[in-house]
Amino acid sequence: MPALAVKSLYKVFGSRTDEAMRRLADGAPRDEALAGLPATAAVIDANFEVRPGEIFVVMGLSGSGKSTLIRMLNGLLRPTQGSVRVDGVELTTLRPAALRKLRREKISMVFQHFALMPHRTVLENAGYALEVAGLPKAERRERAMDALRMVGLADWADKLPHNLSGGMRQRVGLARALAAGTDILLMDEAFSALDPLIRREVQDQLLELQAELGKTIVFITHDLNEAMRLGDRIAVMRDGRIVQIGTAEEILTDPANDYVAQFVADVDRTRILTASSVMEKAQTTLDVNVGPRVAARALRENQTSVVYVTGPRKQFLGTVTEDEVLRALREGRQSLDGYVSTERVRTVTEDTAVADLFADCAESQHPVAVLDAKGRLAGVIPRITLLSALASTTPHEVPALDGPAEVDLVGAKGDPA
Ligand SMILES: Nc1ncnc2c1ncn2[C@@H]1O[C@H](COP(=O)(O)OP(=O)(O)O)[C@@H](O)[C@H]1O
Ligand SMILES: [Mg+2]
Repeated sequence: MPALAVKSLYKVFGSRTDEAMRRLADGAPRDEALAGLPATAAVIDANFEVRPGEIFVVMGLSGSGKSTLIRMLNGLLRPTQGSVRVDGVELTTLRPAALRKLRREKISMVFQHFALMPHRTVLENAGYALEVAGLPKAERRERAMDALRMVGLADWADKLPHNLSGGMRQRVGLARALAAGTDILLMDEAFSALDPLIRREVQDQLLELQAELGKTIVFITHDLNEAMRLGDRIAVMRDGRIVQIGTAEEILTDPANDYVAQFVADVDRTRILTASSVMEKAQTTLDVNVGPRVAARALRENQTSVVYVTGPRKQFLGTVTEDEVLRALREGRQSLDGYVSTERVRTVTEDTAVADLFADCAESQHPVAVLDAKGRLAGVIPRITLLSALASTTPHEVPALDGPAEVDLVGAKGDPA
């Protein structure tokens, strides 16, 4: 069952909303459809599901309806029409008390301008939602402390907010949401006010937390690079409508229409795509303790001339070439130990941008080794793979749009992802 399911969801502000809904039905752009009516269509016919543990990003320019959409997901706003289900429970027909309960137990929200209470400690701020929920003090403190630990602020628990930097304050906001212990987090431009470098840091931290906790996250941003970095899938909104839903790569390589294509046209793909998205499985990976006979057979069977050698904890040690395997055979050795070299192969981490791979690929005699956080071999990148990955993602030919001014707001060029 999806964590969140949205069907035919609409929100029209203003009056004469019935007439507005009738006019929107045929799919006309909202400004055209509602011309002359005292109504604004913020969200028009939204349909999507969010899987448990997924980071679902909603991306669009200012005014495209993102905040209105996310506020309907937790019942802060009542839809004009349509359905929102949270873990299968229809939210739009719940009575206020039941809605508050569901929100408390299932959904937390983090905002862009997250207001910390200045005279309360970081710990008290992090535990605020629990205080509102009426939890006893000891339990509150414990859960808030756990959450602060998760965001790396345990040492700051007893400080007052004015001691914290902007990035740290935003992490307290995240801690508050985590302390609530809900499975679903809604984040509305939660990082948008931060400097690029700090922002990058909290993005990394969110990804780490996500890997650990497996929360379901709906993350709103107007920043394409942020969307691409964080989103398992991305929904692109324009003028109230969702115009495409897909992975970062789907949206880059197969934009649904000219608008999306234009939106992503300026993205430097070599900065979005990472080593892990272009790497391949190493043909021949062997433990350092295997004998040269086994290695020789593996090379023959895989039709390759180099072994990627790993140690007892699967960590990458280096390479052994075909010639050396033969030498080890002649010398009657029982293992590859003593023949492993780190000279002939460059190593990079999984999150290395493709743009930063060229020098390594050029200088590495064998395909570059991609290592995970624990130093294990995640994959390799042969030169030819790097080149073909780039060829298949060169920007599409996109006809010019009528209103290119809008696109300048995206910030796709500015932020060096
Ligand atoms: N409470 C409201 N009353 C009237 N119009 C609103 C209200 N909230 C949002 N809008 C309008 O709905 C549209 C979408 O706004 P919003 O959801 O805030 O977009 P975003 O978060 O993408 O910037 C905008 O045209 C905005 O002016
Ligand atoms: Mg908004």
